[in-house]
Amino acid sequence: MNKGIAVYPGSFDPPTNGHLDLIERGSKMFEQLVVAVLRNSEKTPMFSLTERLEMLRQLTADWENVRIDTFDGLMVEYAKSIDAMCVLRGIRAISDYEYELQMALMNRKLAPNVETVFMMPAEAYSYLSSRLVREIAQLGGSISGLVPELVQRRLQEKIDPALKFQQSRKRKTGKKE
Ligand code: PNS
Repeated sequence: MNKGIAVYPGSFDPPTNGHLDLIERGSKMFEQLVVAVLRNSEKTPMFSLTERLEMLRQLTADWENVRIDTFDGLMVEYAKSIDAMCVLRGIRAISDYEYELQMALMNRKLAPNVETVFMMPAEAYSYLSSRLVREIAQLGGSISGLVPELVQRRLQEKIDPALKFQQSRKRKTGKKE
């Protein structure tokens, strides 16, 4: 296993400034950082796998040692398949700790030679999550400063037609009542 290769796995639905902060930190620490997007999650994503990959590729284009890939099945098996010795995960607050500890220890049981490395994102992103970004955007709130402009545009494109549809339905129902 190669000490210089790390996997940063996740859903990235959508990528946030917190993810990018971690990718930047990881790219400085490891020779090669592979951002690996889970292919078949139980959750129904807002962005398709292709959309997430395209966004991540554009957002990380300037970091030469960062590669974007997908994986399915056990993450540690994927890590082994690309010779990665480390798994990078971000911990924002104490609330993340329990879940991350459980996952790290379970992954260690499955693959004792794969180490999980935790990094803290910048304080400004400590309350930021993809789920909240999706929710705020869907409810018409501002997500400026939380995600890169590219992601902001993609969210707008995705949400605008849905908003228009909802509003027109409300208007139609309103007329009937
Ligand atoms: O961004 P997320 O949703 O917090 O990422 C979670 C992810 C993808 C890292 C985790 O769900 C995962 O590794 N899934 C792959 C399946 C697996 O290996 N499960 C065992 C975990 S102990």
